[in-house]
Amino acid sequence: MITVKNLKKHFSTSKGLLRAVDGVSFDIPEGQTLGLVGESGCGKSTLGRLLLRLYEPTAGQVQFDGNDIFSLSPDELKKWRQEAQMIFQDPYASLNPRMTAEDIIAEPLKIHRIDIDPGTIAKSFQQVSLNPHHRCRYPHEFSGGQRQRIGIARALILNPRFLVCDEPIAALDVSVQAQIVNLLKDLQKQMNLTYLFISHDLRMVRYIADEVAVMYLGKIVEKAPTEMLFKNPLHPYTQALLSAIPLPDPVAEKKRKRIVLTGEVPSPLQPPKGCGFCSRCPNAKDLCKDTAPPLKEVEPGHFVSCHLI
Ligand SMILES: Nc1ncnc2c1ncn2[C@@H]1O[C@H](COP(=O)(O)OP(=O)(O)OP(=O)(O)O)[C@@H](O)[C@H]1O
Ligand SMILES: [Mg+2]
Repeated sequence: MITVKNLKKHFSTSKGLLRAVDGVSFDIPEGQTLGLVGESGCGKSTLGRLLLRLYEPTAGQVQFDGNDIFSLSPDELKKWRQEAQMIFQDPYASLNPRMTAEDIIAEPLKIHRIDIDPGTIAKSFQQVSLNPHHRCRYPHEFSGGQRQRIGIARALILNPRFLVCDEPIAALDVSVQAQIVNLLKDLQKQMNLTYLFISHDLRMVRYIADEVAVMYLGKIVEKAPTEMLFKNPLHPYTQALLSAIPLPDPVAEKKRKRIVLTGEVPSPLQPPKGCGFCSRCPNAKDLCKDTAPPLKEVEPGHFVSCHLI
């Protein structure tokens, strides 16, 4: 179980303090997936990196099975580095072009000084449906989907328990995106993995996630079990995001009304005093400009941060 409590990450920049993650709380139960959505720059990757302890937080806590990952002893931190892994967006950029697939997948074992059993790598190839005969090939000799399978095999070689998947399908052809998501789903079941799944693709999020959190300007503005969120989005920002998804039924698709947001996106350097969304919200009132709305539970498991709900 991952427990995040009031987590903040503020970067000092030449233009001032940038509030990339600004007070975020949630749980991810073991073996489940939290989908994280929101537009570019809202803080998704920063949040993912905090959970892996690639950044030190400005404030707040991340607990894994009750232990705060920011106050681990050196031995415990070493263990956390094995238990928590990341799958990146661009498999080409994240794989060393001068290393063979076999060496790439085995590298984490070497870093952690774990003996490499000759069968381990072949098993790892099979686990992600790669042909073990291709173990001596270089990244450029694989397709995009196969390269992402190498990235996944490398992330799994240390037998982790928690994975941050940061846009794992965004760089792939549409035809292979579903294969990679299905692979991640199968592996989750087999290994009882816990996922933070960051994606712009709301249809894939609906397919893989148990719960979805919608992020806006460093904060979670809505969070609910997946079907509850997709059937009854309450925050105007979530409604706008969901209205952009094309519908498979042609009749419904013809009737679909896309909500196009107008107004300025505020900068995380100067976040508004009140609700972060009020400059683009069609329903904003004076109260919204002055006071930030808390994240409140409006039905069991469904949290929304909006004064008007
Ligand atoms: N190391 C850093 N130093 C300063 N600012 C940063 C740093 N990393 C991220 N930021 C800023 O923090 C904010 C959140 O960035 P982040 O990469 O987390 O967004 P994101 O939601 O992952 O966006 P995208 O969908 O484009 O990947 C942005 O304004 C970004 O410019
Ligand atoms: Mg990102």
